[in-house]
Amino acid sequence: MKFFNKLSRSVKGRVAVITGAGSGMGEATAKVFAGEGVKVIATDVNFSEVERVAEEIHSMDGECVPFCLDVTDNASIEDCIKSTINTYNALDFVINNAGISSVTSVDDKDYEQYWDDTLNVVLTGQVRLIRSALPHLLKSKNGRIVNISSTEGFGASPFHSPYTAAKHGVIGLTRSLALELGPQGITVNCICPGPINTNMTSAINDKDKMIYAKRRVGLKRYGEPEEVAHATLNLCLPSSSYINGVYLPVDGGLSIRRA
Ligand code: NAI
Repeated sequence: MKFFNKLSRSVKGRVAVITGAGSGMGEATAKVFAGEGVKVIATDVNFSEVERVAEEIHSMDGECVPFCLDVTDNASIEDCIKSTINTYNALDFVINNAGISSVTSVDDKDYEQYWDDTLNVVLTGQVRLIRSALPHLLKSKNGRIVNISSTEGFGASPFHSPYTAAKHGVIGLTRSLALELGPQGITVNCICPGPINTNMTSAINDKDKMIYAKRRVGLKRYGEPEEVAHATLNLCLPSSSYINGVYLPVDGGLSIRRA
């Protein structure tokens, strides 16, 4: 029997680009990865927030470069990849986390705008970064793409149709690319968070969160960003080399509940 060696659970020295790292799950992912010795390029459309995240990582002796990257803008993506290669001459992990959400009805007069904006960030943004990073991921011995979808990626809520459609698209994208890129040594997987305490859910008051969680979530609570970040890290471990094309709910049991 062949045992995994000790290093197979180490990501030390790998290079990761993380989008939406100025807040919530992206920030937690940047910190968790840096804590494991990953060289993190923390990117966000909101640069001052990733500067703050990088400073916090540096104060814990981690390695992090902040970068202003808008996932709707190919030029900023290409700048980021170029700068990553100039600095580290490698890129191993792409974590597609940036997202926006909106509540809208299908007959809203601005529906098409919501649709375009949401698809552009949540789905097309992921493809843009993957395409730009691909030549470098192919050179990595441990190439990993982790796309953040949602429980909306395989379930649905009313009045969220652009977001739900985009998150379903993320799962389809993940599965197709897993088959396309797997033979070239890159695994492509997807995380589906349930309700998580971040800026995205901060408009919901604590009482309503509690009522929802008690009724719907197996663990009877919202999740914390770090709990998702660790699941993302697991998919990047060398020892996760045979996990490809999955969508992993990190939802406290939300999606298995029947009643
Ligand atoms: P958040 O609002 O705390 O963080 C999202 C980050 O994405 C922000 O820092 C924002 O500046 C950045 N961003 C937005 N548009 C961008 C763009 N065009 N380019 C680059 N960065 C951009 O939200 P959270 O919750 O941490 O979201 C992270 C991911 O998790 C998103 O994809 C979201 O859809 C997903 N998600 C969130 C859930 C939740 O309950 N919070 C549940 C399921 C999925």
